Amino acid sequence: MVSHLRPEHFIGKPRHVAIVMDGNGRWAMQQQLPRIAGHEAGAKAVKRIVEHCPKLGIEVLTLFAFSRENWGRPSEEVSALMRLFLHTLHTETESLREKNIQIRFIGDRKAFSVELQAEMRQAERVTKDNDGLILVIAANYSGRWDIANAAMKLSKDVLSNEADITAIDEEGFAAYLSMSDLPELDLLIRTSGEVRISNFLLWQIAYAELYFTDILWPDFGPAEFDQAIQEFASRKRRFGLTNEQLTQAEV
Ligand code: IPE
Ligand code: IPE
Ligand code: MG
Repeated sequence: MVSHLRPEHFIGKPRHVAIVMDGNGRWAMQQQLPRIAGHEAGAKAVKRIVEHCPKLGIEVLTLFAFSRENWGRPSEEVSALMRLFLHTLHTETESLREKNIQIRFIGDRKAFSVELQAEMRQAERVTKDNDGLILVIAANYSGRWDIANAAMKLSKDVLSNEADITAIDEEGFAAYLSMSDLPELDLLIRTSGEVRISNFLLWQIAYAELYFTDILWPDFGPAEFDQAIQEFASRKRRFGLTNEQLTQAEV
């Protein structure tokens, strides 16, 4: 078997699930509500899914909360999203701590207000010793940024002789990316019927299973999540091998 593949890669239970939480705006429109009401309903959906994941033994849940491209939205929507982000973090950190959930953020946080950055640091600090679910929030994140940022950090290490340029391989490079210490991504879910990645995890989706559903994010609950997990379990992940090789590996 290819050396980097371990038996657990073939087991039907995902360790790491990521979600592009899309469709808040369309949900609000359907209800004849302002877009921000859709984002508020989206935050409630986040809470339901985060609380559901530990029951399924999922180790890491990565959520796309705000992309680098989302700064281009109308300024009222961006500020409303920032307020919601701040408010949710402020009110939910204690509950995460109690539920043994560790929160982390990926993305360039320098773009956020000092107040929001402080709240993010505080949430990470308060939950850092929790060893239940790891909840990763992608904020001001994009996949290309992650890769370019890794290249920059690696170059710095090469210049300071902390990294050997001749030893750079896939594994060595990946160590500079976000989430390099976490299990590989197994399943990527996108809601709202869009069938694209929108510059989310690019390197990390290499062998992830992709799952698209028409459900809008505020309507995506534990039952819909279970359906995605069930579909994942029915998929045959081959990682480039043949079915015969996989059957041999199972026995
Ligand atoms: C996803 O919902 C949330 C964010 C991007 C912050 P949208 O706001 O993109 O919802 P639609 O796509 O307009 O319906
Ligand atoms: C992706 O959704 C970003 C988040 C869910 C945070 P978008 O709604 O921004 O993606 P596009 O514009 O449809 O590609
Ligand atoms: Mg959208």
